Amino acid sequence: MNRTKMKRVNKGRSKKTIVTAALPYANGPIHIGFLLEAIQADIYSRFLKMSGCDALFICASDMHGTPIEVNAKKAGIDPVKFVDKYWKEHQQDIASFLVSFDNFYKTHSPENKELSEHFFSELKKKGLIYVKSMDVIFCKNCDRTLPDRYVRGTCPLCGMADQYGDVCEGCGSVLKGTDLLNPKCSLCGNFPQVKASPHYFFKLSAFSARLKKWINSKSADLQPEVKNWLKEWLDKGLEDWCISRDAPYFGFEIPGSKKECGEAKYFYVWLDAPIGYISSTKNYCDKHNEPNQGNKDNKHKSCRWEDYWKKGQINHFIGKDISYFHFLFWPAMLMAMKISLPKLTVHGFITVGGQKMSKSRGTFFTAKEFHKLYGAEPLRFFYASHLQRRVADIDLNFDEFIAVVNNVLVGKLGNFCYRSLTFAEKNYADLPVPEQNKNLTRKVLSLAVKVKKNYSALDYQSAIKTIMEIADIGNAYFQNAEPWKNKNDEKTKKAVAWSVNLARNIAILVSPVLPEFSGKVYASLSEQNLTWDDLSFKWKGKVMKVPLLVNKLEKAVPKEKFPLQLAVGQVVEVNDHPNADSLYLLKVDMGKLGKRQVVAGLKKYLSKEDLRGRKAVFVANMKPAKLRGELSEAMILAADDGIHVGILEADKTSAGEEVHFEGTENARAEITFEDFLKIIMEVRSGKVWWNGKKLAGILEGVKVHGINDGAKVR
Ligand code: MSP
Ligand code: ZN
Repeated sequence: MNRTKMKRVNKGRSKKTIVTAALPYANGPIHIGFLLEAIQADIYSRFLKMSGCDALFICASDMHGTPIEVNAKKAGIDPVKFVDKYWKEHQQDIASFLVSFDNFYKTHSPENKELSEHFFSELKKKGLIYVKSMDVIFCKNCDRTLPDRYVRGTCPLCGMADQYGDVCEGCGSVLKGTDLLNPKCSLCGNFPQVKASPHYFFKLSAFSARLKKWINSKSADLQPEVKNWLKEWLDKGLEDWCISRDAPYFGFEIPGSKKECGEAKYFYVWLDAPIGYISSTKNYCDKHNEPNQGNKDNKHKSCRWEDYWKKGQINHFIGKDISYFHFLFWPAMLMAMKISLPKLTVHGFITVGGQKMSKSRGTFFTAKEFHKLYGAEPLRFFYASHLQRRVADIDLNFDEFIAVVNNVLVGKLGNFCYRSLTFAEKNYADLPVPEQNKNLTRKVLSLAVKVKKNYSALDYQSAIKTIMEIADIGNAYFQNAEPWKNKNDEKTKKAVAWSVNLARNIAILVSPVLPEFSGKVYASLSEQNLTWDDLSFKWKGKVMKVPLLVNKLEKAVPKEKFPLQLAVGQVVEVNDHPNADSLYLLKVDMGKLGKRQVVAGLKKYLSKEDLRGRKAVFVANMKPAKLRGELSEAMILAADDGIHVGILEADKTSAGEEVHFEGTENARAEITFEDFLKIIMEVRSGKVWWNGKKLAGILEGVKVHGINDGAKVR
């Protein structure tokens, strides 16, 4: 390597770097949505550290704001105690998923108070903050100013009743509480009033040009979707930002506000929350800076937050919902404070079974619940397999989750590593340096370079795919070598040694995603904490006993009962019903459920050709009945949008196999037609849904063709 190149590499390695996840509100348990972000950021932080980078992984609890104040009051707890309870709980929940922050601090802290006040006074000195009177909504009964979210009323644009004051769910318009018709206080139901109140504003409008320049810069490295949003926002024109709130509020009182405004004002939570990134760093640095602490980790001996934030590289990971704050307000403040501008990565939302996470729909999983069901690494692996540097939502479908974990993580990766290490442990006291195996060795090492590039580009999906390519090479190699045949051959030993080296390399490559898995592999080789520099085919020695690396999962989601037994049948014959013009008489092969005769009222909508030979979904537990003199022993389901009628198709599923609404269990007991009519199944996006759950077989979702959304299934 020539000198300049070496310098560049070393410089890259030692650059101080901050990695953050957004600060979760200390207002409820950690859920699997936030875990997506925490895991995405954790993988990156582990990747950087393995590359020799001086990276700090920083987070905190976001402790301020009206919802926290209101909820603490409702619970009869002092807000400081309320948020501290969550602060402790959040750290345990997050750590249980092997997310390893260097510091998880809090926004209700002396450091954050000091820094928020510092930001405020500096911005004020620069003429970027001014006081202006504005209209606020005030509830006399509650004696408080109501944030937009706490006013409910009718949307002035579409007339939808009972909407929150910040956004209408009917037409999606962004509102202000003062826009609503017939407003009501959501806390007490009384009619609030509008009153004038002086507030502090930050001159965001003054940053338009600088922000425009920034979003086009290479260092911002914006995702294309985000760039489009920003262009739109900036073209619309930026309004100055109100950064204060009225009492009662849980937050920091603004110094001088009593004098300037006639009453105490508080920093709006979104002012001090991002400053929390810095104050958490400061708290870390102060802890690691204390002289004569005798701490072993003297890596950060002279550790100052400014070294990271003013000279280093900042990486924020955030969800799409908080983009406005992070791409406009925050960079504007940083520009004014002469602090480095961040590189931001926005991820989409986790949906569960195609649905928004919601408690009422049963699609909300806390970190604790999920950990109890499946542990940490399956979720880390599943998320990594889906994550790219993209804003798209990621669906957690339990069938897919189990399949990915069992077939890929356990079946390929775990299988290869466990098999080769266990074979070595059982058969050899000492392994020699491996076979040269030039071509495969070169191939693997070049794939390893690709994996590093994938991580670096935050394309974990490709990293996992590439690692699986390597595992496939390993499985095929081991299978071909057939080491169980001539265990004591020198050649066999060398082949096993090559496999063990490959397992070691795989463990290194996957360690940002699966730190525990990798730790177990390292331990069996009497090693620990390997880095990219350790990738090689030079390991030799004794393999120690290997614990189980990963477990196969059982589908453990608590199953809800669905009242029908839905199974696929193949239509063998279609005849006219002898006594009714609108009815067909079908002969249906239902595999292990037998051959059945079915009367179907589809003649008006579908031709015999449309049905003959097709596989469709039938209700198999329908009470047999005579319809116009012919026995019907099952019912064919059809979707009807008022114009078109279509059957529920499942071509890849064998006759007799059951299909399920995700996470539910079919019934066995016979059902009457009357009870059947009470079940509401609907079509959305070509799929069939019940209670927010999608109908699917093992290999495929059940489909309907050419049927409009909202169609009922009967
Ligand atoms: N407190 C603010 C962030 C302040 S950062 C200076 C906040 N907190 S939050 O608890 O509501 O969300 C924390 C992070 O979790 C956000 O980035 C948010 O986008 C993310 N997620 C919340 N629900 C999510 C999903 N269902 N899926 C993926 N991420 C989700 O916002
Ligand atoms: Zn009220």
